[in-house]
Amino acid sequence: MKGSNDFDAISPYYDHLSWLVFGKTLKKAPLTFLNKISRADKILIVGGGTGGILKPLINAFPQAEIHYYEPSKKMLEQAQTRFKLASNRLHFYGQPLQALQDSNKRFDLVLTPFVLDLFSPKRLEQAISIIYNLLEAHGNWLHCDFYVDKNSPWWQRQLNSLMHGFFKVATGMESNTLQDFDKAFNKHALLTNAVQKFSQGMIQSVWYEKV
Ligand SMILES: C[S@@+](CC[C@H](N)C(=O)[O-])C[C@H]1O[C@@H](n2cnc3c(N)ncnc32)[C@H](O)[C@@H]1O
Repeated sequence: MKGSNDFDAISPYYDHLSWLVFGKTLKKAPLTFLNKISRADKILIVGGGTGGILKPLINAFPQAEIHYYEPSKKMLEQAQTRFKLASNRLHFYGQPLQALQDSNKRFDLVLTPFVLDLFSPKRLEQAISIIYNLLEAHGNWLHCDFYVDKNSPWWQRQLNSLMHGFFKVATGMESNTLQDFDKAFNKHALLTNAVQKFSQGMIQSVWYEKV
């Protein structure tokens, strides 16, 4: 069995794999509401992977300081290679989100693209609390992940279980099943500004704002 949530081994194939199953959706969905956010000065990206998310963010907020937390050494290397020439406003950390637990850093925009689904229910609650505490008042949170609810058709549940099973073996993913994100987010004072579904509802992008 691998260490938990360890994406090093699949890092060379990750982008191809995600493209094979969902085309460009996995790359576009996390950025759905980016153009609705008028200003961001300090941005946190949690589990950014190979760094595809960086260019649109740098373009949208050319003045912003970006902090990139990615514990997979191999994923991080790919992101750093892509942005070798990027400005000194881009900070890479080979660390998990949990390293920020007692940090006094604050951010006005946080992105969690396909990362919170890795965590067990307890660690998901912890991760959401950590991020909530890092967000400034009225800060924005763009969350995007796989989604199932009681109305999801059987084949979506099956496909989700299959994907979960695959990542469990390939990365030692902590979570055994897709968590109820709505329930976990609703424990905090977060306003849901907008929601958009993709791939027939299998993927959901949500724009939260700290009240
Ligand atoms: C499913 S991949 C998604 C990558 C990228 N966001 C994307 O959409 O292509 C999950 C990413 O989260 C990272 N990750 C795993 N545990 C983490 C943690 N505790 N904190 C932050 N990132 C983590 C993994 O290394 C991996 O790069």
